[in-house]
Amino acid sequence: MRILLFTGKGGVGKTTVAAATALRCADRGLRTLVLSTDPAHSLADSFDVYLGSTPTPVVDGLHGQQLDATERLEETWADVQRYVMEVLDWVGVEAIEAEELSVIPGLDEVFSLADIKGFAASGDYDVIVVDCAPTAETIRFLSLPDILSWYMGRIFPVERRLAKVVRPLVSRVTNLPIANDDVFAAIRRFYDRLDGVRELLTDGDTTSVRLVVNPERMVIAEARRTATYLALFGYHVDAVVANRLLPAAVSDPWFDAWKATHAEHLDAIEAGFAPLPVMKAELAQDELVGLDKLRRFGDLLYGDADAHAVFHRGEPVRIRARGKNRVLSLDLPFADKDDLELARRDGELLVRVGPHRRAIVLPDSLRKRDVGAAKMVDERLEISFVEHEPDKVGR
Ligand SMILES: Nc1ncnc2c1ncn2[C@@H]1O[C@H](COP(=O)(O)OP(=O)(O)O)[C@@H](O)[C@H]1O
Ligand SMILES: [Mg+2]
Repeated sequence: MRILLFTGKGGVGKTTVAAATALRCADRGLRTLVLSTDPAHSLADSFDVYLGSTPTPVVDGLHGQQLDATERLEETWADVQRYVMEVLDWVGVEAIEAEELSVIPGLDEVFSLADIKGFAASGDYDVIVVDCAPTAETIRFLSLPDILSWYMGRIFPVERRLAKVVRPLVSRVTNLPIANDDVFAAIRRFYDRLDGVRELLTDGDTTSVRLVVNPERMVIAEARRTATYLALFGYHVDAVVANRLLPAAVSDPWFDAWKATHAEHLDAIEAGFAPLPVMKAELAQDELVGLDKLRRFGDLLYGDADAHAVFHRGEPVRIRARGKNRVLSLDLPFADKDDLELARRDGELLVRVGPHRRAIVLPDSLRKRDVGAAKMVDERLEISFVEHEPDKVGR
């Protein structure tokens, strides 16, 4: 089973590439589902068919879905969210690092994640293609599994334990907000639906992210930042799609400067994103709408390759022994060391890159050690863990 996520700046061709990819997989006999997490749905427009909020047949072997979050309000996520805020307030947000809680998941995002997990677990599909929202929203969306597992690990278990054992007592002696049964049932459902979603989406054999770019300076700059943040959260990017390249057949001198600019940017994309493969797609003669055009586009994009193949396999996190030390390294392409911040807190390593941060739970082999030096080596952040010296103050 494969999950392919397509992201990039607005308008670069994410929906078109996702639709063409899904169609190609289905045409090759794979049971395929394509869904969009972009509230501005355009998948249906791209295929030029109707798509409902549940899997809707497009062609043989292909279903498409456009989620309507408001339809799912009966799931009482709003109740859960309100209750979480009450509990946070009661615990004292300061005590549990307000920053980690600054991102309260939105409805669309939570439902999309739950849907992806559900469809993956159903066994009904060989390939799930996800047409993501523009980059900023997608980073938010893809950092959610990490944040959610933090919630699940830290807050709900305490609350569940409290609730089971001392719930009647607590309500008498403290003012801990006690959720009513509806909220508990909703939390339970929420848990079951999202548990394991991070493992699913960060497993490189299953899930690959593909970055769609155009040969334009700003688009490329945004794709670089996206690559950094995706790596931070442990996602596997397996290819870059360079879309809308001016075809060689365009010979009008009017476009000479454009062609030179495109060539220059394409070189920068290939050099910058190496070792990721860069798939190239030319600007078509017309809008790419409808099954026939999408099929032709998919052929040009993938050539003879299987669209669902793993095109590149990196190692977002790696731990190696180096002499007596252990070195934990994180793949952080394009990261600037001035944008990095590291902190150790008990069994976690907090890594901040620009506005994003991730708490990496340290394995036992590192937990007992002290953090030594950290440096960037070939786009990897290397952090050495040295043997613990009890008389030293450093952690
Ligand atoms: N290579 C291409 N050649 C011609 N038109 C394209 C190409 N790629 C995308 N388009 C067109 O550009 C528009 C925006 O593409 P879309 O896939 O919706 O972008 P996104 O999902 O990234 O916002 C659509 O009308 C689409 O048909
Ligand atoms: Mg789109």
